[in-house]
Amino acid sequence: MRPACVILAAGMGTRMNSDVPKVLHGLYGRPLLQYVIEAALGLNPSKIIIVVGKNRSLIEKSVSLPKNACFAVQEKPEGTAHAVLCATSALKGSRGTTLVLNGDMPLVREKTLRAFLSLHARRKNALSVASFLAHDPDPYGRIVRDKRGKAVKIVERTDATPQEKEICEVNSGLYAMEPKALTLLSKIGRNKAKGEYFITDALELALADGLRADAYVMGGEAEFMGINTRLDLVRAHEAIRVNRILDLIEEGVSFLDASSVFVHPSSRVGKGTLIYPNVFIDGNSVIGRDCVIYPGVRISESAIGDCSSVKDSSVIEGALVGTCASIGPFAHLRAGAEIGEGAKVGNFVEIKKSSIGKGSKAMHLSYIGDARVGRNVNIGAGTITCNYDGEKKHRTIIEDGVFVGSDTQLVAPVKVGKGSFIGAGSTITEDVPAGSLALSRTHQRNLRGWAKKKAAQKKAK
Ligand code: UD1
Ligand code: CA
Repeated sequence: MRPACVILAAGMGTRMNSDVPKVLHGLYGRPLLQYVIEAALGLNPSKIIIVVGKNRSLIEKSVSLPKNACFAVQEKPEGTAHAVLCATSALKGSRGTTLVLNGDMPLVREKTLRAFLSLHARRKNALSVASFLAHDPDPYGRIVRDKRGKAVKIVERTDATPQEKEICEVNSGLYAMEPKALTLLSKIGRNKAKGEYFITDALELALADGLRADAYVMGGEAEFMGINTRLDLVRAHEAIRVNRILDLIEEGVSFLDASSVFVHPSSRVGKGTLIYPNVFIDGNSVIGRDCVIYPGVRISESAIGDCSSVKDSSVIEGALVGTCASIGPFAHLRAGAEIGEGAKVGNFVEIKKSSIGKGSKAMHLSYIGDARVGRNVNIGAGTITCNYDGEKKHRTIIEDGVFVGSDTQLVAPVKVGKGSFIGAGSTITEDVPAGSLALSRTHQRNLRGWAKKKAAQKKAK
């Protein structure tokens, strides 16, 4: 039977010291809560109920919900047991297992949820608790076991005896509950120290009621850490970063200094690619196979074809780079830049909303915007497409095989026909017919002996 999922997200998150609800704090641009929703979604649950509090409208706006998900409201954050009780009416009709998850455990994996559910079913428990061993158990509820090693209760930090505080096995905030265990939640009394209703009391209550209940170590801290503070958020970022790098190493990517490289969880890097230090690959970027990404490069929402290289300190945002291309050093590819196979874009070249054809080159100090550049075109140093007239953007078209001399300005809209040449220093304001030479610089005059005359005048003064 498909489980139902209840995700608790109504807490105040005071330890975050922020105006933003805790579960909306971002991890690589996505709210914490979204991670938990997606892990739960992987189980193909019958429904997902998200318990939210006074920040409901903000949360509704910030997370994307699957079709079978809904919100339940906990008017006042009166504790985690109370939060689950607020979901009971939305849970009506689901007779199977309910998986309860804290909304602040973004690193939990679908795979682990699955393993936990099947263990819960195999043990025929009414209540199962997923636990982990924490380096610093302080913020967590401790799992207290009897002499035979069976979990008998969960003790929160504020209630733990010095002896219990020594326990490193802690509650992860992930529970599997049968309907019988859910009914028990209404019997939980207020915690004396905090005045809240704690879901953690359900373990002791279930056992007292003769139900089967236990806790199981299901994973490590890197997966189960709860995000309560900004420091936890930093740690979670780092845990995700390290996991991504380890996966990539496994998949055949090489790093010279993996500790300084960031690859967004949704980005991909192909086998055989070498990544130098201080590289930042962000968003849904795709780097092909056998590429070399040199130091200080940022690639965001872009695709780089196989066997291409991106040299030092280049920025690539929203661009497509073909195979065997070479970008940089110090190049800037902006949104809509499309660089063809084997093309070369060199230092201090900025390209925006333009395609550069196969085998073309723009090696030095250029701006190419709103242009279509054909194949095997040579763009000389200092070439600029003057695409903006102060009001509108206009297009420049440079056809195949054109040679654009250095320091040319192409005043758009303008078209340079196939196989043409443009003399260095030209300002091109009119279309150039195919196969022509276009030259628009003023004629050079050489005044012979001028320097000597000038010196003589100076002396006479
Ligand atoms: C909780 C557990 C603790 C466990 C830890 C794991 C309790 C009492 N303690 O502690 O044993 O080790 O998680 O990370 O459950 N929430 C509500 N309504 C409320 C209170 C909380 O929806 O009234 C939500 C929060 O938004 C959060 C989750 O429940 O997503 C857990 O609450 P939090 O305050 O973070 O509990 P912890 O102190 O971390
Ligand atoms: Ca927490």
